[in-house]
Amino acid sequence: MGEKVGQLIDYIPQLALADPDAFGLALISMDGHRYSAGEADAPFTMQSVSKPFVYALALSVLGLDEVCRWVNAEPSGEAFNAISLERATGRPANAMVNAGAIVTTALIPDTADAPRFDRILDCLSRFAGRQLDVDEAVYASEVATGDRNRALAYLIRSTGLLPVDPVASVETYFRQCAVRVTALDLAAMAATLAHGGVNPLTGEAVVEKAVAAQVLAVMATCGMYDVSGDWLLRVGLPAKSGVSGGLIAAGPARFGLATYSPPLDPTGTSVRGRRALGALSERLGLHLM
Ligand code: DON
Repeated sequence: MGEKVGQLIDYIPQLALADPDAFGLALISMDGHRYSAGEADAPFTMQSVSKPFVYALALSVLGLDEVCRWVNAEPSGEAFNAISLERATGRPANAMVNAGAIVTTALIPDTADAPRFDRILDCLSRFAGRQLDVDEAVYASEVATGDRNRALAYLIRSTGLLPVDPVASVETYFRQCAVRVTALDLAAMAATLAHGGVNPLTGEAVVEKAVAAQVLAVMATCGMYDVSGDWLLRVGLPAKSGVSGGLIAAGPARFGLATYSPPLDPTGTSVRGRRALGALSERLGLHLM
């Protein structure tokens, strides 16, 4: 690709080893047709792209009102790792920023027959339509360096809004971030949300239609952090970015779309992914308006 765009992240050292030239794109339609270009089969970790799907699991288990007691659904207008906690209550702004995602993960039930992370991995796998696994090296790398997220968890715990030990809850969150996918997997996951919770590849109803709609709404308003408004204005699709270079967008009742390209802009968004989805939206008229 030649031209150098964006920066590989280095606060999770293992992610700085990614190939800066890798690029993959995949689209899956509501009838399960798969379209792809470039390295759509290249593996990478989900990072923040996991957040909407774990939010979907929390909504499925607890319902919207109970989840909203713990995590709000307002855009923070701040970076993904900011201390985005409501001044009066300490409640995280939304489930797309780290603070909210740490709480969302902690809300997933943890029982002897179904440990919290097993439930999360099972749910992510159903969204993808195949069994996913964890990149242990990326997980270990984030455990070794994740003091900011641990600090966020302790802050939230101090307000009484984290139902689990801070270190344990952040470790489960890091594991979910280290789940390995491809652009094709992410397109299937986004397509499942776009298809009212039914995976168009497997036909499985992964979550209820109302839950899929709730998740897409929060992706539309909060999924791109402090550039969510500009993204919805220009690209016009609910979306979610991740610092390993994954980016998903969903066209409700139309398609799931995903890109992979590791170099990021300062907001933690894949530069090429943003350009590719922006260009596709414009050329194919994908904007929801
Ligand atoms: O918690 C973190 O900092 C990372 N595991 C995920 C952050 C992320 O992907 C932000 N998105 N663009």
